[in-house]
Formats: sequence, structure tokens, C-alpha cells
Amino acid sequence: MMLLPPFVMMRFTNVITTAAASFEKVTFANIGTVNGGSMAQCLVYLTVHWFFWMFFRWYLEQVVVGGFGTPKHPLFLFQREFWDGLLGKSAQTNTKATLQDLEHLPEDEKKAGLVRPRDVDKEHERIIDSLKNPEPDNMDAVRIVNMHKQFPGATPKDPPKTAVRSVSLGVKQRECFGLLGHNGAGKTTVINMMTGLFPPTSGTGLIGNFDIATDLDKIYSTMGVCPQHNILWGELSAKVHQELFVRL
Ligand SMILES: Nc1ncnc2c1ncn2[C@@H]1O[C@H](COP(=O)(O)OP(=O)(O)OP(=O)(O)O)[C@@H](O)[C@H]1O
Ligand SMILES: [Mg+2]
Repeated sequence: MMLLPPFVMMRFTNVITTAAASFEKVTFANIGTVNGGSMAQCLVYLTVHWFFWMFFRWYLEQVVVGGFGTPKHPLFLFQREFWDGLLGKSAQTNTKATLQDLEHLPEDEKKAGLVRPRDVDKEHERIIDSLKNPEPDNMDAVRIVNMHKQFPGATPKDPPKTAVRSVSLGVKQRECFGLLGHNGAGKTTVINMMTGLFPPTSGTGLIGNFDIATDLDKIYSTMGVCPQHNILWGELSAKVHQELFVRL
């Protein structure tokens, strides 16, 4: 029963009321012996419960995402990147491990006969090359690598909806980049994935050397997102908006 916090709390109150009913004064001196020591026992249990449930809640917040967010791997506590990040060691991007996947189109796209136009393929090769042979001094500020997003169909019978189809591109430092496309092209979906609102189905994104799959905390400390709608001020210029959102 003591494994369930409400029962511990109930026992604790029971001991207090029993002590009060028999006019027994509870002090630090006798807390270990009141009611055969069960008050002290309850306090120890409640303290252990507090630590356990706080940890459990924090863990669930990391791996189960309700609504928006990018969940961590269930065994993230055993992964080196997590501890490196926590101890402030410089994180190496873990993208290399999946370079094979990042380089090639997803299987279903290959089967569907997707071929990248020449200029698009050249940019993809450039990004892959920057991962294979990193040049820290000349690194793109933002890299989108073979990023793919499929949403499930509206009902289980509907086919999945591909919103972003294996996009690769790099934005250089100090460059102002505009992503253009017709309605429904997938621009917002790309931005949402780059800002960690939800994860890509495959592929990844890098801000500097930080991977959106593993280093969102660090990315958030350097990135500001200025949204598209509603909360922009008519009196402020685009530059001032940028400065404002970057600082948030
Ligand atoms: N949560 C979702 N579930 C299913 N399909 C989605 C979801 N979000 C977006 N889509 C679909 O993905 C495609 C890309 O949408 P997205 O909003 O990224 O386009 P966009 O380029 O930002 O368009 P716009 O110029 O209208 O803002 C669209 O066909 C859209 O219907
Ligand atoms: Mg949009």
C-alpha cells in the first residue's frame, strides 16, 4: 500500500489525528517513535515518492508528446548526446550515423519514380558533402537534409498525404533566404519541422551543427521564430520584428 502516495498520505494523517486525539505531542525528538515509528516512515516514503514522481513526469514530458513537440528516444538517458549536452560538452552532430539514409531518397519515393531536377540535386549533393567533409569555418547556418514529411490520411482508409518531398537546401551565414512556393507546397510544414513543432518522417535539419532531432534545446537558445500571422505590429519594420523575435 505504501507504494501508492494517497495511501501514505492517508496513513500519515491517520497517525497525526490519533496522536492529537490522545494528546500526544509530536516533536522532532519523538517523531521516530510516535505510533511505532510509522510517522517517520510515512515522511520517508512521501519524500521518495516526491522524487520518483517528479522524475517520472519529467521523463514522460521528454518522450511522450501530446499535441506539438518532438519526442526524445525512450532510452535517451542512456545516450551519450544527452549527457554531453547536460554537462555542456560541445555536441558533435549525430547525423553521420544516418548519412546513408540522408543521402538517398526514401524507398517509396524511389518506387514512385521521383527524380530531383539537376539544380535541386546539385544543392542536395552540396549539403551531403558538407556533412561528409565538414568545414566549420564555412558552414551553412541552416541545412535542411533530405527532409520528408508524410501526414496520415484523414481516415485509416485514406492514403497518407506527402506534404514535403525530400527537400535539401542550405542557407549561408548572414544570408537572407526566401522560401517561395504555391499554396500547399509545404513551406509552413518545413518551418514547423525546423522549429521542432513536429518531427520529419525522414531526413533532418541542422541549425549550425545542431540537429533538430537531438539538440532542440540548444537550437532554441540561438533561434527566434517570427510567426506568419496575427501578432505582427504595423508600426514596426521587418528588421525590428526580426530583432524582437530573435531575442524572445
Ligand atoms: N497536419 C496535417 N495533416 C495533413 N495534411 C497536412 C497537415 N498540415 C499540412 N498538410 C498538407 O500538407 C501540404 C503542405 O501544407 P503547408 O501548410 O506546409 O503549405 P504552405 O506551402 O505553407 O502553403 P501556404 O502558402 O498556403 O501557407 C498541404 O497540402 C496541406 O494540406
Ligand atoms: Mg503556409
